[in-house]
Parts: sequence; structure tokens; C-alpha cells
Amino acid sequence: MELFEAMRGRRSVRRFKPDPVPKRLLREVLEAASSAPSAGNLQSWEFVVVEDEATKEELSRAALGQSFVAEAPVSIVVCANQNRSSARYGRRGREFYSICDASAATQNLLLAAHGLGLGSCWVGAFEDELVSKVLGLPSGVKPVAIVPIGYPAEAPPPTPRLPLAEKVHARRYGGVPDPRLGIDSTS
Ligand SMILES: Cc1cc2nc3c(=O)[nH]c(=O)nc-3n(C[C@H](O)[C@H](O)[C@H](O)COP(=O)(O)O)c2cc1C
Repeated sequence: MELFEAMRGRRSVRRFKPDPVPKRLLREVLEAASSAPSAGNLQSWEFVVVEDEATKEELSRAALGQSFVAEAPVSIVVCANQNRSSARYGRRGREFYSICDASAATQNLLLAAHGLGLGSCWVGAFEDELVSKVLGLPSGVKPVAIVPIGYPAEAPPPTPRLPLAEKVHARRYGGVPDPRLGIDSTS
């Protein structure tokens, strides 16, 4: 799938067919996630692949009862390895870079899943400590996103975006963008 088509066409999918996700596709999704940029190329991410029903149920409970987490055939929990990043970058690595790294990996993961015909959703509403306990995460490895994945059983419409004119600034916050960008109140 073409890159821009993938970015525009991706949706958060929250209903899944029961069909399993082939391991070959899971592997591709994980490799795409691992090709994300990272601070100092430290790749401060970890991926926990959850396919068994009991753990999916526990994850769903930890995600404030979001039932689609249990219904998806598989979830990948993307974690920030704060230890790896802080070893080089100290507090900034622990509190900022590792989270950025894991987030970049998550976005790659979502796009790759979409490109392979799979549906997925970035789930960030969860109790950190509960997820860590369920997955046995060591100290310094922080869950950033639960990503349920499966063949989509829904085709959600596009979600609205704020106009670029509200978010693009020239030189200073609030600066009107160069007219040659063609950004006006409707774009
Ligand atoms: C940091 C973050 C946390 C999110 N947490 C949840 C969540 O807990 N549950 C959920 O259903 N969607 C969650 N989402 C998905 C957003 O609701 C979704 O991306 C947004 O509404 C835009 O829709 P789209 O992904 O279809 O473009 C989250 C997205 C992000 C980036």
C-alpha cells in the first residue's frame, strides 16, 4: 500500500473477526515497529505479544474494561524501556525519549497493520501498574500502548481533524502561515 494512502486510510478499529492473525503478518508488523526512529538509535521499546484468552481478559480489565481488547485475536503491548534510554540520557531518556521511541514504534505498528489488511487501535487508557503486573514487566519497563490487532469487522468512517490553519504557525506560535502553503481557515 502506498504510504500516503496508508496514513490517510488508517482508522482505529475496535471490532474484529475471530480469525487468527497469521504469524508471518505479526512478524512483519513487529519488524515495521522496530524500524521506527529512536533517540540515539537505542530502540528503547519492548513488545509483548498476547494471544491467550486469560491474559487478554486481564489486559481488558486493566484497560478500564475496554472489551475489544479481549475480543481481538492478539494484542501487542508496546513498552518503553526506560532503563535503556536513561543509561545514556539520564532523566530525559527515562521520562521523555523512551516514551517518544515507544510511541514512534506504535505508530509504525498501526500503519503496518493497516497496510497488511489488519485492523488495530492504540489503547492508552489503562492502569499502568495493573498492566505491568499482568505482563510481569520489570522495573523501568513502562507500558505505553496496548494495540489489539485482528481482521477488521467494521469499517469506521474518518474521524475529523482540526483545520491546519489552527495548528500551523509561522516563526512564532500564532504566526500566520506563508500564503504559498495554501493553508486557510478551511484547510
Ligand atoms: C495516546 C492515545 C491513546 C488512545 N487511547 C485509546 C483508548 O484507550 N481507547 C480507544 O478506544 N482509543 C484510544 N485511542 C485512539 C483514538 O481514540 C483515535 O486515534 C482517535 O479518535 C482518532 O481516530 P482514528 O485513529 O480512527 O484516526 C488512543 C489514541 C492515542 C494516540
